[in-house]
Amino acid sequence: MLTKYSLLLAAAGSALVAAAPSARSIQGPCAQISQQYMQNVKADRVPTFPGALAYECLQSMPFDPKRGAAFVEDVKKYMQWQSNVDVLNNPPTSYLSPPVDIWGGLDYLQQQATDNKFGNQFEFDTALSDLFISAKDGHLSLLPCSYMPFAFVGHESLVSISSDGLQLPQIYTFGDAKFLKSNPDAVSPIVAINGKEVVSHLEGVSESQSFQDPDARYNNVFLSRFRYTNSDQMLGAFSFGPNGMWPGSAVYNLAYANGTMSKSEVKAVVRKNEFQFVDGKALYESYCLPASNTTTSSPSTATPTPGESTPASSTPASQTPSSTKKPAPTGYPKATIRDDNNLISGYLLSEPGLEDTAVLSVPTFGVSNIEGGNKVVSDVAIEFIQKAVDAGKKKMIIDLSANPGGDINYAFDLFRLFFPNKSPYWSTRFRAHEAVRLIEKVGYSQGPQNLIFASLVKVGFYGLKTPSQDYTFKSLEELYGPHNVLGANMSTANSLNLELISSEEKPIHGYGDIKSKWMTPPFAPEDILIITDGACSSSCPTFTEMMKYEGVKIISFGGRPQYGPMQAMGGTRGAQVMPAETLMTITTAVLGITAGLELLSESELQQLKALSPAEESPLQYGLLQVNFRDAYSKLDKDNVMPLQFVYEPAHCRLFYSLDNVLQPATTWSAAVNAMWGSGECVAGSRM
Ligand SMILES: *[C@@H]1O[C@H](CO)[C@@H](O)[C@H](O)[C@H]1NC(C)=O
Ligand SMILES: *[C@@H]1O[C@H](CO)[C@@H](O)[C@H](O)[C@H]1NC(C)=O
Ligand SMILES: *[C@@H]1O[C@H](CO)[C@@H](O)[C@H](O)[C@H]1NC(C)=O
Repeated sequence: MLTKYSLLLAAAGSALVAAAPSARSIQGPCAQISQQYMQNVKADRVPTFPGALAYECLQSMPFDPKRGAAFVEDVKKYMQWQSNVDVLNNPPTSYLSPPVDIWGGLDYLQQQATDNKFGNQFEFDTALSDLFISAKDGHLSLLPCSYMPFAFVGHESLVSISSDGLQLPQIYTFGDAKFLKSNPDAVSPIVAINGKEVVSHLEGVSESQSFQDPDARYNNVFLSRFRYTNSDQMLGAFSFGPNGMWPGSAVYNLAYANGTMSKSEVKAVVRKNEFQFVDGKALYESYCLPASNTTTSSPSTATPTPGESTPASSTPASQTPSSTKKPAPTGYPKATIRDDNNLISGYLLSEPGLEDTAVLSVPTFGVSNIEGGNKVVSDVAIEFIQKAVDAGKKKMIIDLSANPGGDINYAFDLFRLFFPNKSPYWSTRFRAHEAVRLIEKVGYSQGPQNLIFASLVKVGFYGLKTPSQDYTFKSLEELYGPHNVLGANMSTANSLNLELISSEEKPIHGYGDIKSKWMTPPFAPEDILIITDGACSSSCPTFTEMMKYEGVKIISFGGRPQYGPMQAMGGTRGAQVMPAETLMTITTAVLGITAGLELLSESELQQLKALSPAEESPLQYGLLQVNFRDAYSKLDKDNVMPLQFVYEPAHCRLFYSLDNVLQPATTWSAAVNAMWGSGECVAGSRM
């Protein structure tokens, strides 16, 4: 029976419950997220958290000054391998991004770490990551440990739309853009974000992107259906942070031209399917301390797929059974032919303006991870080109929108399918420094009998030729140089040996044992048109540049709301990415065989050890990679201007219209009209 007393207690109890928020806030932000995570999982919901809370959790991670400084020391060792690390400090005037003092920046961060100037690991990681991003080279990247627990997502996706492809575009939420046709008076463009004029705010967001071209960076802020091979990237940097990194604000206030406002909140999701941490320290121990310092199992490092162009053939992993064909991408018509993973597709269309035209869509060169690898996409390309010729198509569009690069053999091969009578041109130099000299010395001291010969060839350290392909380097001195290029010590200009790298799995038709499919070009150069959105990175520019030498024209879409030309190849123009693991593997192997065979003197051995990164990194990371090779144009006879610094406008530019945004395939007829029809290009952009 309830007494007066017990009722009072109950009332008091409910009062206590009402006061719970303050009681609960005794719990730290990471613990609150852990609790919400469990509640969401129990309720069968995708766990999502307020972005601000996840940000607080990251800021509660401790910072260890010694460990931080040691990590910077390790980063410096990797940075010796970054091809343009010296030139970035004083880049040629044709470069559109600001100079960066990488060595000075690293020294400064190391000192700040030693002096315990960072409040937490996340603050340190952000400073280091910002330095990497400022180099504007997609091959140079770091995902530090505190970036690995969460991805920040969820505020509205934006699009930039021109009324006709020629007028300067305006910015809408993607949700509103869908109404622009049916009910244009109901929606209004965005004029300001968090009180700042919208374009300058978004140009600020675009600075978090690693493309060297500002228009390519700007495009990446917006939602794009062209990015269908990487669903994470589809939303654009405004709604998916830069790769899910903290976007800098927990709330976005959008102001519209009609005078109204809307507000959207940043959310966080976990990158791994697990989140149980009592505090920032526990999070730090799991995500940041190296394996030897963690008792619990370390998180698997989820590696996002950046632009990649390594001659190394890595994991042929995927288990994708060939019976499960992915659905066709949104906004594209039915393909005449495509592979199961939407990595390549061909279209023979009959719609007005395209009756004469075939379209080969190549959204990526990253194909090594699918079952069957390069051969699968090469076969599709061959079959489609044959079909297009048989169908009497006169013109060919190659749509490289959103192409982040990938496998270099594939880029060479696709070029050879269009120009079977021309050799692929690839001229590169790597930075000449003591660690690479000692490794190359081991390679050249033994030649092909070398125990790690195959590995050295695989990573592009051995079996190299001159760019003309008519001379194979015979000694360390011939290859290494060094040559003074823009004030930096660089190797002799060199190329992969196409005969050596062409294989069944990674065919380059006409090289090695792989016979050419046909001897005459299936299309005249003036009947081929390449489309990009500026994002074209790594092996994508390698391919595009080779096509350009033959007279193929290029059109680019989008970019900042200003008239004038835009570059088509706005991503990294570096010729080879070098992931930290690859460098570690090769260094360890070289040190291993050298010890027994005395290929290096004792002092050289000690020096190589001293110049090599620690076997176990002082801090874990999700990704660490550098750009190993600069690339040079065929027209640059002395190989002195790395393409990363060259300004190359497309032959024509168009802005995206609403149709282009909703149905990417409509860009094909727009491009045909501008390049082969009576249509115009954006004012001042026809070259
Ligand atoms: C103003 O524009 C916004 C954004 O398109 C829209 O949501 C809102 O309904 C409009 N308000 C008025 C009064 O038209
Ligand atoms: C990490 O491991 C090293 C070597 O085992 C040890 O010396 C160091 O004290 C450990 N640090 C932490 C924070 O556990
Ligand atoms: C280039 O290498 C030479 C030795 O071959 C060295 O003396 C010189 O200091 C190096 N220059 C730079 C800029 O690193």
